[in-house]
Amino acid sequence: MTKPNLLSGMQPSAASLHLGNYLGALTQWVQMQNDFNAFYVIVDLHAITVPQDPKILRDNTRRTAAQYIAAGLDPSKSSLFVQSHVPAHAQLAWVLNCITGFGEASRMTQFKDKSQKGGSDNSSVGLFTYPILQAADILLYQPTSVPVGEDQRQHLELTRDLAMRFNSRFGETFVIPQAQILKESAKIYDLQVPTAKMSKSAQDPKGLINLMDEPNQILKKIKSAVTDTDGEIRFDPSAKPGVSNLLGIQSSLSGEKVSDIEARLKNQGYGALKAEVADVVIESLRPIRERTNELLEDSAELDRLLAKGAEKANEQAEKTLKTVYENLGLVMAL
Ligand code: AMP
Ligand code: TRP
Repeated sequence: MTKPNLLSGMQPSAASLHLGNYLGALTQWVQMQNDFNAFYVIVDLHAITVPQDPKILRDNTRRTAAQYIAAGLDPSKSSLFVQSHVPAHAQLAWVLNCITGFGEASRMTQFKDKSQKGGSDNSSVGLFTYPILQAADILLYQPTSVPVGEDQRQHLELTRDLAMRFNSRFGETFVIPQAQILKESAKIYDLQVPTAKMSKSAQDPKGLINLMDEPNQILKKIKSAVTDTDGEIRFDPSAKPGVSNLLGIQSSLSGEKVSDIEARLKNQGYGALKAEVADVVIESLRPIRERTNELLEDSAELDRLLAKGAEKANEQAEKTLKTVYENLGLVMAL
């Protein structure tokens, strides 16, 4: 039986992914490779909706790809590719722009938030149509499933609306995709402000564990993680966010149940918990960091893997785009 298609995307917006991206998204994507015909796209065209330094953008795109492969996305199972390598994304985005209402696009909350911060003259039209390019990313691959974080729910709703609208105006063309909201339980918090989500825009770099951090950096960050004063190792996110976050990280990486860790470390101090967490984080990230560095040293090999991914992606994307053009009434080029 053929596997259903799945697509997800990530921006190449940092030199290193963080532990939240890894546990909250990447490990789940790695698992889904077996059950789906998966497409994972690094969305460089989305990244340029805000100003980018060309050299850093190129570097971050390769770094993001290398970390995904190092963490277990397998280019022989899934298609891992760069969005700009598949011209159909920009082509379908144009078509979808033409069936999206101006008011409909204006209601996207992520655009409202981002443009409010910069002011309307500093926000590009590209930022405004960002969700429509995202809809094109998705619909080209006819996926049944799109695993994303909660913050992407509205963009997925728009994608479904556009797909249904196109189908009803021009005939069955797109599969209507389902958002598969990634597990809330996998949420990782900032080590310094454990009530806030771990994020690349952390106030204090000590709050953030990067996949590319060296062991001594990880040790320092975990040792200085904020806890509380009652001294009890107990999972209670509202009363004890810091300790609970450490327990969550430990459990996700080791596979040991939180209740077992609590029982095992009962009556030991936070120092013992932190030592264990540091150890499991360091040992889990070590092979990923090492493999990423190997891939980056041989960027020709990395580019070759991405070219193979783009080839598979292009094949599927071209097929969908051709149907779209035909159904729209465009004269097909010879
Ligand atoms: P971002 O780069 O922030 O857009 O994150 C990419 C994906 O990583 C999101 O869709 C989330 O599923 C996941 N993610 C980001 N931060 C965290 C976090 N602190 N905990 C768990 N998952 C996260
Ligand atoms: N907007 C998504 C984010 O910020 C990234 C993205 C672009 C995406 N295209 C996509 C996610 C297609 C899923 C499917 O996280």
